[in-house]
Amino acid sequence: MSVASHSSAMQSRHDVHHEAAPDPVPVTKQPLPRRKFVRNAFLALVGAFTATSAIATYRMLYPTKVTGFGTKVVAGSITDVRATLATQRYVRNPEGRFYLLPAADNGVIAAYWRCVHLGCTVPPPNPALNGNIQCPCHGSLYDGRTGGLIHGPATHPLDYFPVTLENGNVVVDTGTVIVRQEVHPDQVAILP
Ligand code: FES
Repeated sequence: MSVASHSSAMQSRHDVHHEAAPDPVPVTKQPLPRRKFVRNAFLALVGAFTATSAIATYRMLYPTKVTGFGTKVVAGSITDVRATLATQRYVRNPEGRFYLLPAADNGVIAAYWRCVHLGCTVPPPNPALNGNIQCPCHGSLYDGRTGGLIHGPATHPLDYFPVTLENGNVVVDTGTVIVRQEVHPDQVAILP
């Protein structure tokens, strides 16, 4: 290598070594392109609509109603039920749509107050009818102690619900309607 070329190479290395760092590229905020903005807004709208629909569907499929007719209903404490039956001969429960009737000296039956003929609501036992229950629509007559059929046009006794005793209370499961063709002692819940 000649002296001249060596000197040139050294000069070149020298230049590279001391070359100034390039100026940073200025960062400038670019406005969101209109098309992209519209697309994002549309996707956000679709997302919000989908979420709202999903919540509405969830609420529709999983109702929050957990009390009242169709569930277990507390008719009262055993003591109160006993006392009411001793004086009034029935316990009316609007929430559960039933009458507790004194089907035995120490037992009750929860009679569904829907007439089995065409579905009218029957009133409670009527003292003027020997304590029996008469449907106001077509006159079917039911036994006021058991809900048994005395005469039609209905063709069988009032339906009834299962009764259990829980924590000192008389509990009626209005989610289970039991249809019967006749009155039977097995339908009576014994009160302690
Ligand atoms: S609906 Fe009760 S007798 Fe007809």
